[in-house]
Amino acid sequence: MIVYDLLKPLLFRLNPESAHNVAIWALRQGLVGGYQKADDPILATRVWDMAFPNPIGLAAGFDKHAQVIDPMLNLGFGFVEAGSVTPLPQPGNPKPRLFRLTQDAAVINRFGFNSHGLDYFVNNLGQRTRRGIVGANLGKNKLTLDAASDYEKGIEAVVGLAEYLVCNVSSPNTPGLRGLQARSQIDELIKRVLIAREKFGKKLKRLPPLLVKVGPDLDESQMADIAEVALMNRLDGLILGNTTLTRPGLSSLDADQEGGLSGAPLMSLATQCLSHFYRLTEGKIPLIGCGGVANGKDAYAKIRAGASLVQLYSALIYQGPSLILTIKAQLADLIRADGFSSIAQAVGADHR
Ligand SMILES: Cc1cc2nc3c(=O)[nH]c(=O)nc-3n(C[C@H](O)[C@H](O)[C@H](O)COP(=O)(O)O)c2cc1C
Repeated sequence: MIVYDLLKPLLFRLNPESAHNVAIWALRQGLVGGYQKADDPILATRVWDMAFPNPIGLAAGFDKHAQVIDPMLNLGFGFVEAGSVTPLPQPGNPKPRLFRLTQDAAVINRFGFNSHGLDYFVNNLGQRTRRGIVGANLGKNKLTLDAASDYEKGIEAVVGLAEYLVCNVSSPNTPGLRGLQARSQIDELIKRVLIAREKFGKKLKRLPPLLVKVGPDLDESQMADIAEVALMNRLDGLILGNTTLTRPGLSSLDADQEGGLSGAPLMSLATQCLSHFYRLTEGKIPLIGCGGVANGKDAYAKIRAGASLVQLYSALIYQGPSLILTIKAQLADLIRADGFSSIAQAVGADHR
């Protein structure tokens, strides 16, 4: 087993994308691991009638091609979201397209959905050997005009292979994608993907929950529209959210790079957005809080703001996989300190 603290200086000497590829390679070889420990029972939670051993999940983008789902579950994540995957393979944007903002504990990326395509993704999903909750995060090919048709293709391909599905309409790096968050577009998209799930999932015992992942840069009226459309169409949940185009008080050299910002500087913006959506949806649909989580306090803040589940990615780059154990231990302590006996009791506590 390789200890991340030893590996990190070497990884940080590589360019960030190569470092990521080395990490994926090491995970596939079984070289990273050994952090497994049974979860504290207070962290167990039920969402969409599924039993999550803990509420801390891996956000989309780390395992875009569904290559390391089992190793990531083995590291202690309560669930893993693979993708975004596009129907056809596509290269994404020219390199460099991933930047470490070390002084800010942040990352900027403009990958633009580099994807091996659905065939490869589906094949990998089919090779899972371990139980665990896995989400399939779906994107669209750059050149597809009818975006909904790409999400329909994604649903057709993965519907029986993932525990939940996500339509990602909030990557800032695919031209026009975020326009799908406008009221009429999101309404049509949600209607079409729900029909696709019904159609392609009809032989399944139960349909996987379908979520939409939105960005943190929406204005009040856009948020209100999305919340209303989600409730009207009985969408199963929302992920709040993706990376931001804003640049809140950064000091790193690469702060002006184009792309989506993630990591610590996103925490406050993303949590405000989550909190707003919890109020708008009146706690009626589960929300996944994502953006800037780096410790147990951050995860707990997301839960109190209204998240039933939490996801992270960027903090993993800076803290390595032992972060997962640390966050879970801190979160369990915080839940107990406030007198709650479950995660569910703490969800939305700030609004009461
Ligand atoms: C390098 C990188 C690639 C990402 N790729 C995707 C993606 O393909 N699909 C997606 O929905 N989100 C993607 N994200 C966004 C993350 O899932 C997450 O929403 C965002 O990074 C905020 O969480 P964090 O601050 O914990 O990183 C990516 C993030 C990073 C840093």
